[in-house]
Amino acid sequence: MAKRQAATAAVEVDKASFSYKNIKAIDELTLQVPRGISFGLLGPNGAGKTTLIRMLVGLLKPKSGSIRILGQTPSRQTAHLIGYMPQLPSLYTELSVIQNVNFFARVYQMNDKRQRAKRVEEVIRLVDLWQRRQDSVMKLSGGMKQRVSLACAIVHQPPLLFLDEPTVGLDPELRFTFWEHFADLTHQGTTLIVSSHTMDDAAHCDRLIFMRGGGVIAQGTPNELRKATGKADANLEDAFLYYIHREDKSV
Ligand SMILES: Nc1ncnc2c1ncn2[C@@H]1O[C@H](COP(=O)(O)OP(=O)(O)OP(=O)(O)O)[C@@H](O)[C@H]1O
Ligand SMILES: [Mg+2]
Repeated sequence: MAKRQAATAAVEVDKASFSYKNIKAIDELTLQVPRGISFGLLGPNGAGKTTLIRMLVGLLKPKSGSIRILGQTPSRQTAHLIGYMPQLPSLYTELSVIQNVNFFARVYQMNDKRQRAKRVEEVIRLVDLWQRRQDSVMKLSGGMKQRVSLACAIVHQPPLLFLDEPTVGLDPELRFTFWEHFADLTHQGTTLIVSSHTMDDAAHCDRLIFMRGGGVIAQGTPNELRKATGKADANLEDAFLYYIHREDKSV
């Protein structure tokens, strides 16, 4: 049983589709993400990244096809296995930083008060907001709110983390710190699914997909995607444009 468990992928999506009324946001998308890696979702506005993440965390149900996370169908029962940082922070802005993080820790049933307090302090220090812990969230800058949101998503140390554009609005030093922490998490066995628009984030991922129109137009390691352009000095932005143009030509 344990062996079987270890063999299942972190995420398995099989021909999943989702529409908001008449807008097809995800179109027969198939995807496998192995455990313990950082996996990037790249694509233009409206490509379907947020919709895909919302399906993976169980907030939206696919209209057709199937989705499994850590071998299970996303549901209320899998919620404790997941950390989710939404694209727009969903924090209680009138509460302080520490109250917000503590609230999420309690929601995730970290019931031992001393252990919870220790972990809450640890994650607030990690996002470098310990000095501001008593401030209400509404008094923080946009990037600081982003950092509180990350602290809330990781406080219960879930094996699977979904981060929807986690580095937007972060200064370069913090972006670097975030990625250092993400690397620590994957080394410890956590699987990270990260959406982004920046090729800097993409370069940090172990594997990536380029999305467009609710589907996957390319996937691979950053190096594989760069090499596919046939140009030795291509960066990931060049690779993305290469796949977009290739797709346009084939239509
Ligand atoms: N709540 C909603 N109601 C109706 N349509 C929606 C809703 N949310 C998203 N859509 C549509 O679904 C498609 C995919 O949107 P989604 O938010 O998943 O894209 P995204 O890749 O996350 O984009 P961005 O980079 O701008 O965050 C878009 O056409 C969008 O207009
Ligand atoms: Mg989005």
